[in-house]
Amino acid sequence: MSGPEPTPLSILTTPKLFFLAGKTIIISGGGRGLGLSVARGVLEAGANVAAVDLLPLFEKVFEDASPSAPVHDMFLAAGVPPSLTVLDSSIEYWRKVFDVNTAGSFLCCKAFANEWLSRNKTNGNPGVGGASIVLTASVAGHNANRQIPCSAYSASKTAVIHMAKSFAAEWGKLGIRVNAVSPGYIKTVMTAGIVAARPGYEEDMVNSTLLGRASTGDEYRGPAVFLLSEASSFVIGADIVVDGGHAA
Ligand SMILES: NC(=O)c1ccc[n+]([C@@H]2O[C@H](COP(=O)([O-])OP(=O)(O)OC[C@H]3O[C@@H](n4cnc5c(N)ncnc54)[C@H](O)[C@@H]3O)[C@@H](O)[C@H]2O)c1
Repeated sequence: MSGPEPTPLSILTTPKLFFLAGKTIIISGGGRGLGLSVARGVLEAGANVAAVDLLPLFEKVFEDASPSAPVHDMFLAAGVPPSLTVLDSSIEYWRKVFDVNTAGSFLCCKAFANEWLSRNKTNGNPGVGGASIVLTASVAGHNANRQIPCSAYSASKTAVIHMAKSFAAEWGKLGIRVNAVSPGYIKTVMTAGIVAARPGYEEDMVNSTLLGRASTGDEYRGPAVFLLSEASSFVIGADIVVDGGHAA
């Protein structure tokens, strides 16, 4: 009696679905904070990491990657923090927030897809074995932030959530999955500046979560490795909210 047809991923044991060996992953904003924690996570899962700052570097990163671990995926953590009220925001400030958080993500995705698609073909099973791009949005992109005025930041992160869906619609069948992760409050250099400037902010953020605490960058290694690996082969155009229940 014949069993069920083998599926493309059935040769991998479940732990191996999360392995990233044989891949180089580009991480923007990898110098500290969330990006640095995600870099540690993907290194521990077996990948090589290329931390990038300047877009012209993309072609060089693809060219320089070892043939045994070509550039395969990308995690974008670079971002600028929330701060100003609408009435205090100049158009220059608004544009700067959108330049880094939104246009920066667009440019990185375009450069990555350009290089990846010129070097790779779909294998008939889009999502399996293809590339994965993860954008960093924010819980602030879902709900108005009661703790700190941040309309420009929140609007830019809402755009990032939709970019993950729209880019996924364009590239999914070509073999590139695009998803977003929406963190809640993480203790990083970015938020340390806000905490120092705004008494009560941290307490407000902590009390707004269902877990009653802040997160650390380490807690994003799991979601990042999931989205970057074969474990998420059918996850595309999604936004994974990792916020301790802040938006629940
Ligand atoms: N910390 C939080 O509570 C929190 C919550 C939700 C979302 N986020 C998002 O997570 C991401 C990382 O935040 P973080 O707290 O680690 O911030 P961080 O400021 O500690 O680190 C951000 C890193 O991005 C780099 N960066 C900034 N602009 C850049 C640019 N134009 N090009 C390349 N690199 C650039 C910085 O140099 C820094 O190394 C951001 O997108 C942020 O909006 C953070």
